[in-house]
Amino acid sequence: MTLIDSIRLSLPQAHPWRDSLHWFPTLDSTNNHAKTLARAGAPQGTVVLADAQEAGRGRLGRSFHSPAGEGIYFSLILRPDCPADQLMHLTCAVATAAAQAIVQATGIQPRIKWTNDLVLGKAKVGGILTELSLVPGTDRVDWAIVGIGINCNQSTFPPEIAPIATSLALHRDAPVDRSRIVSALIRQLHTMSATLLPEKSLWMDRYRALCMTLGQEISLVRGDSVTHALALSIDDNGALVVRHRDGRQEAVTSGEVSVRGMYGYI
Ligand code: BTN
Repeated sequence: MTLIDSIRLSLPQAHPWRDSLHWFPTLDSTNNHAKTLARAGAPQGTVVLADAQEAGRGRLGRSFHSPAGEGIYFSLILRPDCPADQLMHLTCAVATAAAQAIVQATGIQPRIKWTNDLVLGKAKVGGILTELSLVPGTDRVDWAIVGIGINCNQSTFPPEIAPIATSLALHRDAPVDRSRIVSALIRQLHTMSATLLPEKSLWMDRYRALCMTLGQEISLVRGDSVTHALALSIDDNGALVVRHRDGRQEAVTSGEVSVRGMYGYI
């Protein structure tokens, strides 16, 4: 049975997104394809999945390693019908829903490195890339693309990411079933989409509980500049509140910086 058949089988017959799954052996990026569908009017709940990506994208212009048959490369179209400034917590809620899906499907509990990395131990197991478009001439969201990449059954990684990357299979020392994880992801994201705005604080509380950056001494990397700070809290818009060494506090938003541990990725 193909992966897409097993995903459909493991979703309830009546699930509203069950018939909106688009599967491809290879795409440049599932987010790019989802954008094309969104621009053509595809509805909320449209899901794009690929077995491999040739140009998987991450945050801050980075790439996302996407070998065939081993990971999950997943993008979802949302149409939340609200001003963009009400969606500042979207990436945090998606990271939380993805962590919940992984634990539900595999029993493995990832944590989150602010803002959008799923981690196991000291290594990255997945990432989130959200992209928004506004209705022209307004501040209202036309569509949001929620992109999720999860390293599932990789046993090795290219040398440039090997020191900071892991997979669910490496963690468990046995392969994982990608269709069960995708099915859990679709169910978790469906619930999230219905509760994202009315239950914003609840999603952020769940995010804070999973976020391993809080309380850590971190390096803030902005272009060539690196400063050190203590991660104090995360506000309801997903900004990381830090205390710099000179005592100054700052709410850092994810568009500007990359956060690392003092001595490495974590
Ligand atoms: C990051 O690590 O900064 C985010 C990685 C997001 C990768 C996923 S894979 C599916 C979707 N398509 C992409 O091109 N990127 C996201």
